[in-house]
Amino acid sequence: MSLAPHARRLGLGLVLAGLVSLSVFTPAFAQDTASSSEAPAVVEVAAVDPAAAERGFKVWRGSDCAGCHGWSGNGEKIGENPKGPNLRVLEYDADILKEIIMCGRPSTFMAFHDERAYVDDRCYGMVFADLGNTAPPKGKPMTDSQADDIVAFIIQDLYGKPERPSLEECQRYYGKKPVCNMYAE
Ligand code: HEC
Repeated sequence: MSLAPHARRLGLGLVLAGLVSLSVFTPAFAQDTASSSEAPAVVEVAAVDPAAAERGFKVWRGSDCAGCHGWSGNGEKIGENPKGPNLRVLEYDADILKEIIMCGRPSTFMAFHDERAYVDDRCYGMVFADLGNTAPPKGKPMTDSQADDIVAFIIQDLYGKPERPSLEECQRYYGKKPVCNMYAE
């Protein structure tokens, strides 16, 4: 019954001596952390394949994430959906991201996207009978490789980006539409 993602959330003394991390910080983000007086967050993230991230962007756009997390992942939900947190903050490595996406978060609105989640015990060792009314909502199902791709997209294209998205990001998501004019400088 343990909820690993909560316990393994960053900020719980993850800056351990000897922890090897491969950083994917963008220069802007690196500058940010360098100028901060707090120790920079250390999270182990594998190098991302740009082709996987590109596929993952399409999975992101075709799935349900934007409703709750905003099209840019910054937490500005769309319409009547529950609000999800800003995903542009570097918080989890690839394995944990994938687990959260596939299994959702029991007791919250974070939806699961693995069709077999809680049917067998692949998610946190639990099935629906264990969860009762704490089961998370069912999201649009995705395959294992789509989950890997969306994780690559989050790490490459969301992590470390400012909360306010750029015009370029908006046009990537929506095309060159008037809705993006508000992001022009
Ligand atoms: C129905 C609303 C909803 C949908 C759909 C949804 N999420 Fe979430 N998501 C949430 C909420 C709410 C949380 C915070 C859960 C908590 O309190 O622990 C969350 C948490 C997360 C987290 C952990 C972030 C953190 O700061 O702890 C990730 C990563 C994430 N979602 C990714 C996704 C992706 C990718 C998709 C689409 C495949 C998606 N979510 C779809 C509502 C949603």
